[in-house]
Amino acid sequence: MTQWTSNRIDFVKQLVNSINLNNPVELPKAEDYSLYLSQKDLNVEDINALPAWNKPQINFGNDSLESRQLSGKESVVNLSDLEVPKILVVDDHPASRMTAAALLAMEGYEVIEADSGFSAVELVTEKQPDLILLDVMMPEMDGFEVCQLLKQDEQTRLIPIIFVTALNDRRSRIRGIEVGADDFLSKPFDRLELAARVKSLVRQKRLNEDLDHAEQVLFSIAKAIESRDPNTGDHCERLVALGRAFGKHLNLSRHQIRDLMWGGYLHDIGKVGIPDAVLLKTGSFTPEEWEIIRQHVLIGEKICQPLRSMRGVIPIIRHHHERWDGSGYPDGLKGNEIPYLAQVFQMIDIYDALISERPYKRAFTPEEALNIMFEETARGWRNPELMWKFTEFICTCK
Ligand SMILES: [Fe+2]
Repeated sequence: MTQWTSNRIDFVKQLVNSINLNNPVELPKAEDYSLYLSQKDLNVEDINALPAWNKPQINFGNDSLESRQLSGKESVVNLSDLEVPKILVVDDHPASRMTAAALLAMEGYEVIEADSGFSAVELVTEKQPDLILLDVMMPEMDGFEVCQLLKQDEQTRLIPIIFVTALNDRRSRIRGIEVGADDFLSKPFDRLELAARVKSLVRQKRLNEDLDHAEQVLFSIAKAIESRDPNTGDHCERLVALGRAFGKHLNLSRHQIRDLMWGGYLHDIGKVGIPDAVLLKTGSFTPEEWEIIRQHVLIGEKICQPLRSMRGVIPIIRHHHERWDGSGYPDGLKGNEIPYLAQVFQMIDIYDALISERPYKRAFTPEEALNIMFEETARGWRNPELMWKFTEFICTCK
């Protein structure tokens, strides 16, 4: 387990412990993460002994994801976080391949070599390199094909690829950009340029992986909350599927559809802060209990706020209980003051709740559910135009 991972676990524990409904929830900000590493952990004396790829940029407060690479005699950073980055060098010409490999080995990297496109693809699966230095011209499978294949695969798309092209080979560079190359280098290699580009892309890749893992932690919490509430069943999974389909029906952008799907998992993540005695209560809520329940949208927003990738989902989390006439919560927004994706999300959230069986109600048919939603729209709670679009969508699904 890496230091960063254990920080995240501490962060989650702190979050769960800090949720006290009598006090406002104060969560650590993203910029505070780096403070988990003490200056004692950052043994500066040993910095010069580190290989080039691991020479730190000292930063005690602003960028945790770089700080985590710091190491020293007394470091608590687990070695797995400091694994020597693996670079795959792919070139069918032995001399040029060996030159690149030697330069990278001198920089302290672990180097793997492949002499063809096919063996490169095999080695990527087997060795999971941190970066690929890829020659363009190779027999059978050229560099463009290799790059395209790897960038289309969910498992390998985050591995940075540097194309090695001849100087001034403009056509290859344009083709390289089209297939997803991250950077370019010309032969003969300039050692300093090679080292700088490789180091920067490896650091970026590890940062992306950490963000990926942080998102997974949030999705796991959301799943755990859903399983804690026996009333909802697979509500989240169904919302994800409905979100994708309704988003496509509305011609939303790829990013909006992703946010809508993530909203399916994360919209009620703030329920982690609602005590079981309230969340699982079978009778009706007192006004005080309603007030507690309403906090879940604010708690959810605070949980997701530190992650930049969650920016598009946060309006869904905060505003999925607003109403068109301003009678909802937490902000009492009216009409199109309510973020559009939150309005869209409400439609699928309410519809799925209506057609699902709950301990206090039977599952309504789609027609009954739409009727109830139209009644609510007539009462002023929903966007009438969107309600018609949603009805059209449900009818096309049948
Ligand atoms: Fe909710």
